[in-house]
Amino acid sequence: MSVKTGRASGVANVEIDYSKCIACGKCADICGGGLVGAIFKENGKMIVDQKRHFGCIGCGQCMAICPENCISVEGRTISKIDAIDFVEDPKASYEEFYSMISARRANRNFLEKEVEQEIIDKIIDGVKQAPMGLPPSDVEILVLKGHLKVREFVTDIINAIDHRKWIFGRTMRFFFRIFSKEFSDLCRTYLYPTALFYIRDLKAGKDGLLFNAPLVLYFHASRYADPADPFIAATYAQLTAESLGLATCFAGTSSNFLKYNRKLKKKYGIGMKDHHGIALLIGYPKYKFERRLRRSLSKVHYF
Ligand SMILES: Cc1cc2nc3c(=O)[nH]c(=O)nc-3n(C[C@H](O)[C@H](O)[C@H](O)COP(=O)(O)O)c2cc1C
Ligand code: SF4
Ligand code: SF4
Repeated sequence: MSVKTGRASGVANVEIDYSKCIACGKCADICGGGLVGAIFKENGKMIVDQKRHFGCIGCGQCMAICPENCISVEGRTISKIDAIDFVEDPKASYEEFYSMISARRANRNFLEKEVEQEIIDKIIDGVKQAPMGLPPSDVEILVLKGHLKVREFVTDIINAIDHRKWIFGRTMRFFFRIFSKEFSDLCRTYLYPTALFYIRDLKAGKDGLLFNAPLVLYFHASRYADPADPFIAATYAQLTAESLGLATCFAGTSSNFLKYNRKLKKKYGIGMKDHHGIALLIGYPKYKFERRLRRSLSKVHYF
C-alpha cells in the first residue's frame, strides 16, 4: 500500500541500471533502514518490489548513497536530477558548527534595512533540507516581506488577541485549573499580561509581537504532515539565517491565534486544517552579541 501525503500519492518509480550495479546492497540497507524498504537483494541481485511495505515513498536516499550512481527514482516530486554530486567536503566541522550555534541568541533588534530576495531564497533553500515525517515535505512558508506586510499581519493578530483575551482571563483560568494547573498558571503569569502588553503597544504604534522585523517567515503544514515538521523547518531557517549573519528570533504567539481564526487563515493563504508551527523573525542585526551564554537543560537522563 502506498502512502498518501499532502503532495503525493502512489509510489515513485525506481529503476536500477544493472549494467553498472555492483550489488553492494547499500541501497537496500538505506531504504527503510533495510527493513521496511522497497529494495532488497535476492540471489545477488537488487530487486525493487513496490508491493513490499509501502513501496517507494520517494525519499531519494538510494540515489544519494549508490556508489555507481545507477539508481533513478521518478515520482512523488523527486527525480534523478535531484541527486547532485558533492563538489566540496559536505560537512562543517563540529567546532565550526558549535561556534555558530553557541554564538546565536534571540535577537529582537533589527536595522530598518530589508532582507534581499537572494538572501530569502538562500534561507528557503536551507529549509528545503529539513527532515520531514514523510517525503515530500508538506511544509509551507508564509513570507511576510517588508515592514508594511509585517505590520499588517501584526495588526491582524493583535486585533484577534484583543477579541479572544478573555480566554486567558480570571473566569476561564478557574476552569483551566481543574484540568491543568500549569496552563492556568501560564495564563495568569504570562499569557493574559502579554496580551495586554501587545494591545497597549499596538495602540502606541509599537510592535511588541514581531518587533518590527523586516522579514517574517511563518511555518505551517497540511494535516498529512507530522505536527513537528513546521517546527523543524523553522529551526533550519533560523540556523541558515544565522549562518548568513542575520538576526533571528522565534515568535510563538501568533500561531495560537491564527489557528482558530478562519478569516485570517483565508486572508494569509493558510489551509483551514493545517498544523501551525511558528513565526521566525529575521533581519539585519542592530546589535551584535559580544559573548556566548552557557545554557542548561532541565534534565539529561540515561536509562
Ligand atoms: C517555541 C518558541 C517560542 C518563542 N516565542 C517567542 C515569542 O513569542 N516572543 C519572543 O519575543 N520570543 C519568543 N521566543 C524566543 C525565546 O524567548 C528565546 O529563544 C529564549 O529567550 C532563549 O534565548 P536564546 O534564543 O537567545 O537562547 C520563542 C522561542 C521558542 C523556541
Ligand atoms: S547501491 Fe547502487 S551499486 Fe549498490 S546495489 Fe544498490 S544500485 Fe547497485
Ligand atoms: S527513494 Fe527511498 S523509498 Fe524509494 S527506493 Fe529509494 S530509498 Fe527506497
